[in-house]
Amino acid sequence: MGKVGTNIVWHPQAVEKQARARLKRQKPCIIWLTGLSGAGKSTIANALDQFLIDQGFHTYLLDGDNVRHGLNKDLGFSEADRIENIRRVGEVSRLFVDAGVIVLCSFISPFCADRQLVRELVKGDEFVEVYVKASVATCEQRDVKGLYKKARAGQIKNFTGIDSPYEAPQQPELLLDTESQDVDACVAQLVAVLRGQGYLGAF
Ligand code: ADX
Repeated sequence: MGKVGTNIVWHPQAVEKQARARLKRQKPCIIWLTGLSGAGKSTIANALDQFLIDQGFHTYLLDGDNVRHGLNKDLGFSEADRIENIRRVGEVSRLFVDAGVIVLCSFISPFCADRQLVRELVKGDEFVEVYVKASVATCEQRDVKGLYKKARAGQIKNFTGIDSPYEAPQQPELLLDTESQDVDACVAQLVAVLRGQGYLGAF
């Protein structure tokens, strides 16, 4: 991707992130859900989103399938396209954090290095990596969208877990095992982490 254009100078902005966050009585952050297709990322992200909104927090949900309908509709599933997918989503998430919002991101994001790049776009405590864990066998058995079947039949190439790799997080802030826990239990764990670390509530 191109480097910063010449003759482009950063313009300081009058209103700071803290001022925007204070209005919302929350600590903005990126809650990054990574895992295989069918592991449960979107389901958990939607349930958490609903819970937080009901509690009066200001959130936004970025989901791979949806972002790929608009901002990233020019991208496929080659390694280079997945890298660019996550790079763009990272930059968008950073803007949301700057706007004081709690951003929920649901992307396979199969590569450790790309998730690390997003982590480095914001402050240390503004990135919460959540590994939504389920084995390929389980996801394939669930096969909600019928994509594993197509991938096995060779109708989809570069499918994560089949013929494209997934690098599990080594030290996620939270691991949610969806083979042994239901959605409510996963959301409860997420909320406990967010409460415990001061993301929710006035500060
Ligand atoms: S990522 O790898 O670039 O992070 P992303 O989360 O945006 O992926 O999109 C994944 C979704 O795209 C899956 O949930 C699935 O519905 C769909 N999809 C279509 N083709 C593929 C593929 N080859 N590998 C994985 N997911 C795919």
